[in-house]
Formats: sequence, C-alpha cells, structure tokens
Amino acid sequence: MTERIGILTSGGDCPGLNAVIRAVVKAGQYSGFETIGFKGGYEGLLSPCQTIELDYNRMDGMLVRGGTILGAANSGPFAAKTGYGEVRQVDRELLEMAAANYHALGLRALIAVGGDGSLTIAQQLSQFGVNIVGVPKTIDNDLEATDQTFGFDTAVDCATDALDRLHTTAESHGRVIVLEVMGRHAGWIALHSGIAGGGDVILIPEIPFAWDSVCGRVMDRERRGKKFTLIVAAEGAMPRGGEQSTHAFEEGREIRLGGIGEVVAREVAKRTGKDTRTVVLGHLQRGGAPTVSDRLLCTRYGEAAVRLVRAGAYGQMVSLRGTEIVNVPIARAIGRMRRVDSDGELVLSAKALGIGFGD
Ligand code: F6P
Repeated sequence: MTERIGILTSGGDCPGLNAVIRAVVKAGQYSGFETIGFKGGYEGLLSPCQTIELDYNRMDGMLVRGGTILGAANSGPFAAKTGYGEVRQVDRELLEMAAANYHALGLRALIAVGGDGSLTIAQQLSQFGVNIVGVPKTIDNDLEATDQTFGFDTAVDCATDALDRLHTTAESHGRVIVLEVMGRHAGWIALHSGIAGGGDVILIPEIPFAWDSVCGRVMDRERRGKKFTLIVAAEGAMPRGGEQSTHAFEEGREIRLGGIGEVVAREVAKRTGKDTRTVVLGHLQRGGAPTVSDRLLCTRYGEAAVRLVRAGAYGQMVSLRGTEIVNVPIARAIGRMRRVDSDGELVLSAKALGIGFGD
C-alpha cells in the first residue's frame, strides 16, 4: 500500500508556501508517498479533519503562486505565541485530538511549514507521537537555526522596489519619505532593502534611534544639496528610551507592531520643517509570486523535507547553512531569534556608505 505524508502551512502566509507544497508532492511521488494537505494550519487536524488530496497533477502553476492553497492561521486555538512573543502551551485536549486524527489517517509523517511559533506547536505535537519534519518560513528571516527562511528574499525585493519608486518622487518634490516595512522584532527586511534601495536612514529594532541623529542626517543632506531623504523604518524600530509602536492589543494573539513610520514622519517634519510623507508597505511584502531565489530555496527545502521523512529523521527541521541544505533538531531551533548585529559587517558597511541608523 502507498504510504502517505501530511503537510500543513501555519502562521502568517509568505511567498513560496505553494512552491514548498509542490516540491513535497513531487518529491513525495518519486519516493512512493501520496501527500495530503491539512487546511487552515493545525486547525485542519481537528475533528472533523479538513484535508485535500494533493496529487501531482494539481501542482501546475504552484511554483509561482502566492499565498497557500491550504490556508494558514496565526491566531486561534493553535496560536503558540501571545503578547510580545510569550510562548503558550496549546491545550492538551487539542493536541491529543490532532495527534489521534493524524494516527487515524495512517500518516507516516507530518511536514509542518512555519515560523518559530508554528514550529513550537510542531514540537508540542511531537510529544504525542506525531512524526514531524519542519520547514522554516517567515518573511522576517528571524530564525537562528537557518541562514535564511523562505519568503524573506521576496519581501526584500518588494521593499526595494518600493524604495526605487519612492526615490524618484521624493527627489522630484524634495521631500522626506518614510517607508515602514515588516520584520517584527528583527530589522532584516529594513536593513537589506535599505541598502539595496539606496535608503539614507535605516531604523531597526536592534538600534534604538535618537531624534537628533535622524534629523541631523536629513539636514546634513540638505546642506549638501540633497533636498530629499529616504528613511526605511522597520515596524519594530523605536526611539531611544521609547517604546515600539503597536496596534490595539487583541486577546490571545501576538501584538501587532506598526505605526512607527508615521511617528517618524511627524517628528522629522516638526524638527526640520521638511515636507514629509509616510508609506506603510504592509502585506504587499507577503503577497504575490516568490522571487527566483525563494523558488529555488522552497524547492530545495521541500525536497529535503521528503528526504528526511524517507530517512525517518523526525523532529528535524530543514535549514540552509552557507550554501548547503542541512537539518537541525526542531527542539533546538525554536525560541532562538536571529537579530541584526549592530556591530556586524552589514551595518558597518552601510555606515561606511553614509547610511544613518539614528545612533
Ligand atoms: O511574521 C510575519 C509578519 O508579516 C510580521 O512581519 C508582521 O509583524 C506580522 O507577520 C503581521 O501579521 P498579521 O498577519 O497578523 O498582519
């Protein structure tokens, strides 16, 4: 009898999820596995199970299709994180029900595609005999256990494209334009897009900024005849001695960051007298087709995940180290955030180019 594996996509969506699903289905077929998908993240494992048969012939176009055909959730009963990232134990009855349904379906393994929160749930589920293999997903690129999560390259591409466009309009009007990008508590998207898109000031959570320094950079440019300035602000950035900007807190889910772009624009306008605008890039960074680099990474991750299932290497997550795909224990991957090193090569190199960080 053909063996079956399950797959689910959990947490916030991210470009490349469908490309991972496609790679799992294709590599699975050549390894003699059928694949079934659970809808809506871990909730698809609850009774009655919400599943889709993922056959090879349905994978046409999936390499480039944004979102996830399985759906995903970053709130609800399987939200592993609340508030500022506090880890929460999912209710035991829910985990037992999910595990019982997994066993009833006779699956050989479950491939869980998600970020830190989703992999934390995977780890909790594995205590109930579920054979888990993890695939690291998040546009934030904030997992220590891999050099790159998929979706990050696409988000950076999107933010860089936005900066290219803002550059011309900022220059035409001699304005300061603040672009707010995602990234939660890590400044990777802001840092990479800020450098690639020719930003003048990059504000990241790892380097709390001083208003004098940010405004000084704007006025310095003004004196040198550069009447416009592009500021890239990570959603988690904050002024020295201040706090992160957030949306209203919703019970049972992780705090939503956002609003710092407008705060920066207002203060810069007040202190410098410059005409200032804000653009919040938001979920554009999570939508649409993955870049070439993400397609490749997703395909490699999906295929490697099937290889781990074949080898019976459960409780492992696929990971990129240098140029190699390796695997690391999920238990050691979770709860370890990778943040920008304020003295690292990328920040120092940006500073050497005259980019300000507000420090
Ligand atoms: O973790 C990915 C991410 O896009 C963050 O960059 C952002 O803070 C958050 O998710 C937004 O989540 P939501 O789907 O709740 O808007």
